[in-house]
Amino acid sequence: MADISDFQESESEVRVYCRSYPTVFTTGKEHTLSDEDGNEYIDFLSGAGALNYGHNNELLQKILQDYISANGVTMSLDLFTSAKRDFISKFNSTILAPRSMHYKMQFVGPTGTNSVEAALKLARKVTGRFNVVAFTNGFHGVTLGALAATANKKHREATIGALGNVTRFPFDGYFGHNMDSLIYAEGLLSGKGSGIEPPAAILLETIQGEGGINVASGDWLRGLQRLCREVGALLIVDDIQMGCGRTGTFFSFEEHGLDPDVICLSKSISGYGLPMALTLLKPKLDIWRPGEHNGTFRGNNLAFVTASAALDYWRSSEFSDSIVKKGRIIRDSLERTAEKIPLQWVKEIRGKGMVFGFELNAPELAETVVKTAFKSGLIIETCGADDNVLKVMPPLTISEAGLMKGLDILHSSIVKACSIH
Ligand SMILES: Cc1ncc(COP(=O)(O)O)c(C=O)c1O
Repeated sequence: MADISDFQESESEVRVYCRSYPTVFTTGKEHTLSDEDGNEYIDFLSGAGALNYGHNNELLQKILQDYISANGVTMSLDLFTSAKRDFISKFNSTILAPRSMHYKMQFVGPTGTNSVEAALKLARKVTGRFNVVAFTNGFHGVTLGALAATANKKHREATIGALGNVTRFPFDGYFGHNMDSLIYAEGLLSGKGSGIEPPAAILLETIQGEGGINVASGDWLRGLQRLCREVGALLIVDDIQMGCGRTGTFFSFEEHGLDPDVICLSKSISGYGLPMALTLLKPKLDIWRPGEHNGTFRGNNLAFVTASAALDYWRSSEFSDSIVKKGRIIRDSLERTAEKIPLQWVKEIRGKGMVFGFELNAPELAETVVKTAFKSGLIIETCGADDNVLKVMPPLTISEAGLMKGLDILHSSIVKACSIH
């Protein structure tokens, strides 16, 4: 049994993920984590989306080791470095140009919430408006600006006041599949009597990750984009969790033909789990004055190095195809599991690419599944406002054998948990 007393005594009560997996991890390789007692775990948590390319990805590790051994610059504020130039050039040639996308890159502080803060501040500066539309169950980070746009009560309650200037609209399907929440949005934003201030931006995830793997339809997303253009608001897509290949394409919105004004990226953009965040903005929006939105750690060159190397996965369609294929394996397995347990426990299975939510009817049941899976060697988290959705999010690079093994553990854990409840 791992000794976790140092953490319990000295680490703040704010810690969270470690509460579900009470052991001390030592090494990570591809889709596997090991602990001090020599146990191995298949990782379906993937650093909450920051490890799309797995732990210590061999291709990236070698390049990182070489860079460090050659005394490559590590920290550089926003000075020009060869590592940053390589990233910029490769991101342009591998990701943006093939998709006919034209954006400037704003390197922000190293976490997702920094990217959202930059996007919101810029939208307000460009439009001269203060209001922003965000959605039910949306999650955008926990610094004040991003938290104002985040819906989850648990996160919002930590802040007394100061969460203003956001109007909340229902996400696609929030009131069930029979109510079109786009009509609601259109009615409120175009009507003169709605009392809603014209928004600087509409901020959304195309699939809500923390909010419960809620998948917006292409029609709904395109409708919102149209609405943005009509009311003079910017469309900001927060692709922090669903970008970098999670849904099968590099950006989560590619299939829907969206043309966002601003795109937020972080989590897996560095490829190696190193801190890095990026805000992409349409060139005409780049009205920042030098240093206006600043931050010390905007030049993590180790992250630039691995981020550039990770882009090699996107040189052909092979990687995308493998995500779609493994996504089918996940869906089939979850559907088989759903057939094996009493109907009253399963609410819905939803997802895309290699991210799926298995919604159970009770949070206690989901918690039992997480605990049972952990004991059997699988790390998986829950999401959704009620923490009742099992989030299946393995590294995109996981082998099919590893994936099936993880899904088997998940299957037996769900079946076992249902039999106890
Ligand atoms: C969609 C989305 N936006 C923003 C964030 C915030 O990122 P970070 O925790 O790195 O600040 C997250 C984190 O889970 C996220 O999923």
